[in-house]
Amino acid sequence: MARNLVPKGLTSLLFILVLATAVHLTKATELKETNLSLYFQDISAHGAANATVVPVAGVAGKAWTFTQFGTVYVTDNYITETSDPNSAAVGRGQGMYVTAGLDGLNSHVMISLVFTNDEYSGSTIQIQGISKQFEPVREVAVVAGTGKFRFARGYATFETHFLDIPTQYAIIRCNVTVQHY
Ligand SMILES: *[C@@H]1O[C@H](CO)[C@@H](O)[C@H](O)[C@H]1NC(C)=O
Ligand SMILES: *[C@@H]1O[C@H](CO)[C@@H](O)[C@H](O)[C@H]1NC(C)=O
Ligand SMILES: *[C@@H]1O[C@H](CO)[C@@H](O)[C@H](O)[C@H]1NC(C)=O
Repeated sequence: MARNLVPKGLTSLLFILVLATAVHLTKATELKETNLSLYFQDISAHGAANATVVPVAGVAGKAWTFTQFGTVYVTDNYITETSDPNSAAVGRGQGMYVTAGLDGLNSHVMISLVFTNDEYSGSTIQIQGISKQFEPVREVAVVAGTGKFRFARGYATFETHFLDIPTQYAIIRCNVTVQHY
């Protein structure tokens, strides 16, 4: 009898709300936070046989450089556990950078952290967003992940730890803070 007093649509709406809240709470309690500090071994010397960042496209008639709007780079950087290039391998940083600011200051980065170490082998973290490439600390969003990082979201910072100008060899520290299940 009482059931008939509440419009049917409202009952289902309440039910859905209760259900949604329950699912949300269960998942929220399972969220883990992981902090990583990784080092990218990055060689961007133009035309070098060992380059790990290579321009592949750009505006016709313009030099393809980091500061030229429209320049597209493909990258595959070796990632190590400490700044020492001979320290333990963690994985690779594979993806693309596009100079996306007309003034050449901002780069749009799309990088996958592809783990090969014991702890996270087979898992990835997806980093995507604008990098203010000439700032000392560049913060970019972590938008997704796979394997141990399924549903990941968070942020990553990039800092140039070491730079050898003649060979364009840089060691870039990447700190990642991610929440995942
Ligand atoms: C991860 O790093 C952030 C920023 O430094 C800190 O607030 C947080 O407590 C750290 N989380 C863990 C699980 O260590
Ligand atoms: C890359 O190759 C150049 C030219 O052979 C060399 O001078 C440089 O040291 C190499 N860079 C690294 C980091 O191995
Ligand atoms: C990155 O993490 C290291 C510790 O692992 C810390 O010393 C450094 O300040 C962090 N960088 C940023 C930009 O938070």
